[in-house]
Amino acid sequence: MLEANSHRLRRQRGTPGVMENSATVSHSRRERLKQATLECHRRLERVVDAHGYFVERASYGRWLLRSLEFHRAAFATLCPATLVCCLGPTAIAERLALFERDLEDLEVPVPAPSVAIAEPKQDAAQTLGVLYVTEGASLGARLLVTRARRLGLNETFGARALTRQALDLQSWRSFVEALENFEGNPERESRLVRASEQTFELAARHFGAPS
Ligand code: HEM
Repeated sequence: MLEANSHRLRRQRGTPGVMENSATVSHSRRERLKQATLECHRRLERVVDAHGYFVERASYGRWLLRSLEFHRAAFATLCPATLVCCLGPTAIAERLALFERDLEDLEVPVPAPSVAIAEPKQDAAQTLGVLYVTEGASLGARLLVTRARRLGLNETFGARALTRQALDLQSWRSFVEALENFEGNPERESRLVRASEQTFELAARHFGAPS
């Protein structure tokens, strides 16, 4: 199964010259995904704004808790081969660790994972759909990090995860490259889009949307 998934992805992280090509070819899949999930993103933004997470440190602590739990849930059942191909072998563990350190900075207890480590359930198409949301968030993070700075938080205290996301645009570009190189067909495309929509819904629930 994993082999079947991974052969559809060509690993090209860090390959000089490939990026420009694939950006031209593949712009369309990312763009289609963006258009298909615009309303999901707007809803998520409204949820985040309504909860005032960036108003003070106490509410920002809740943002961190919910971000950690959202990421744990989103990453729980992804296809490992696709994950490694898109982000490398350590990115997920590093991101979760940064959220945990941010929580420790703010003296908020780090919760034990509530999502059991499960068997990978999602194939390459679904995994790309999930990662579109978790990795695309780095674009919005550039804006959110300025809000965190107003609370006196930064890359060495309280906003490690957000700052890393905001600065690490190479990861987003590598991901877009893998997304564009994926061999789709109508059935895989629709599962990819559906996985993105579901991941936005998952995020909205974690950040406090009424269910
Ligand atoms: C109030 C909270 C948020 C704001 C203000 C915000 C803002 C933005 C902005 C301005 C962009 C576009 C940046 C650009 O094109 O250069 C963006 C992109 C994106 N954001 Fe957010 N965001 C928020 C929360 C989130 C969250 C929590 C997630 C995911 C869990 C998320 C996922 C995405 C994705 C996937 C994109 C990429 C869309 C694309 O260009 O393909 N955002 N966000």
